[in-house]
Amino acid sequence: MSLQIGIGLAGLGTVGAGVYKHLAQNRALLVERLGLELVVRRVVARDLTKPRAGLAALPPASILTKDWRVLIDDPAVEIVVELLGGIDTPLALIRAAIAAGKTVVTGNKALLAEHGQEIFALASAQRVPVFFEASTAGGIPIIKSIREAFIANHIVSIHGIINGTSNYILSRMTAEPGLDFADALAAAQAAGYAEADPTLDINGWDAAHKAIILASLAYGFWVPADRVFVEGIEKISATDIHFAGELGYRIKLLAIIKAAATETGQAGGPIEVRVHPTLIPKTHVLASVSGVFNAVAVRGDVVGETLFYGRGAGQDPTSSAVLSDLAEAAFALRPANEQAPDAGADLRRRCYGFTPHGLYGACLPLEEIVSRYYLRLAVDDRPGVLAQVAGALGAHGIGISSVVQPETHDAAGRAQLVLMLDRATHRQVNAALAEIAALACVHPPGALLRVETFGS
Ligand code: HSE
Repeated sequence: MSLQIGIGLAGLGTVGAGVYKHLAQNRALLVERLGLELVVRRVVARDLTKPRAGLAALPPASILTKDWRVLIDDPAVEIVVELLGGIDTPLALIRAAIAAGKTVVTGNKALLAEHGQEIFALASAQRVPVFFEASTAGGIPIIKSIREAFIANHIVSIHGIINGTSNYILSRMTAEPGLDFADALAAAQAAGYAEADPTLDINGWDAAHKAIILASLAYGFWVPADRVFVEGIEKISATDIHFAGELGYRIKLLAIIKAAATETGQAGGPIEVRVHPTLIPKTHVLASVSGVFNAVAVRGDVVGETLFYGRGAGQDPTSSAVLSDLAEAAFALRPANEQAPDAGADLRRRCYGFTPHGLYGACLPLEEIVSRYYLRLAVDDRPGVLAQVAGALGAHGIGISSVVQPETHDAAGRAQLVLMLDRATHRQVNAALAEIAALACVHPPGALLRVETFGS
């Protein structure tokens, strides 16, 4: 009989049920590939009788429990898989699992974004690995890729479409000219993509949690949430989708993570982490990522440009990510089980999931982030208006790269003025915008969106 590694599964929601199902379905394959068997010893669920999506039958009553402490107390549970959702209970469970020396696998992005520093400090002190592939971009193996495949790279930049719901909404608005945000959101909910409460999807914070995880992994320190610039897609209008298209761009909710070079040109300068609706050239490969799909482009100083594409949510893709962590966690435990504790300890030391280092360490102040911009203003249609707007921009050192003013007017008889602005800091553009908003010839609402041209 092959070696068995015991699993405690906390959470039998969509992803938990998927993990349970695929562990059974692909058992033989995993045994062949790992040389060991992953055995579910305990399952924690809030409701012990509710049928579960994807599961023909519930786990046996003998292993089902409502009490997560059972996982900690059972010596046969070597790996704790946290798929509960929420913050407080998962944090208590993970703290207890680490203290008990049990390997942790979690898909909880909000928990890691908020408490990652503490969790990995505990993990490091106790020499317990914590794996989190399912926390970011569902089935795309982006965590393992950054952690392992790109271990020899300074990460120059990461650009990610990492929220499927918002990408679905923006894709619908692009495909159906005139469709407004509220109708596109309703369509996403009807299709079962958006949560009943889609707040974090559309306000950018679901993507921001994932961006914090990617940035922390890439740069070796846990990025505080208040150093991340976040803007959602709630205010994107059919008008902006239209003008962006006319100018050769698509609007995507994009996570942008970059490190500047130091003054001497070395890697290790300040990093920036931001999530916002972004105009990206239609010709860029990320512009063609549509619907609920996710994609992440990573540029490393050694590997160059890479691109990952796949499903960022859903039972099966996310289960695939959890199972890959389980396999790695079990494999790392194997030498210890095979009576070679030193080898096991060595392996564990290399496998904490996140290794902090001091080669980076500073976040660029949000006001110093530099971008290009798209600015749309509703203005009175009379001589001198463009000069006033251009004057305010010029006074703050912001150049204009193009101007469009369609001859049509809106219902209030106002002209739409669309300006593409040269690179400027958030500080410059905020100051200019305050001045422009105070002009008598400018009327709300307008729109200010960021433009990403990927280093060109
Ligand atoms: N709600 C997320 C999305 C998936 O729409 O991509 C889970 O993070």
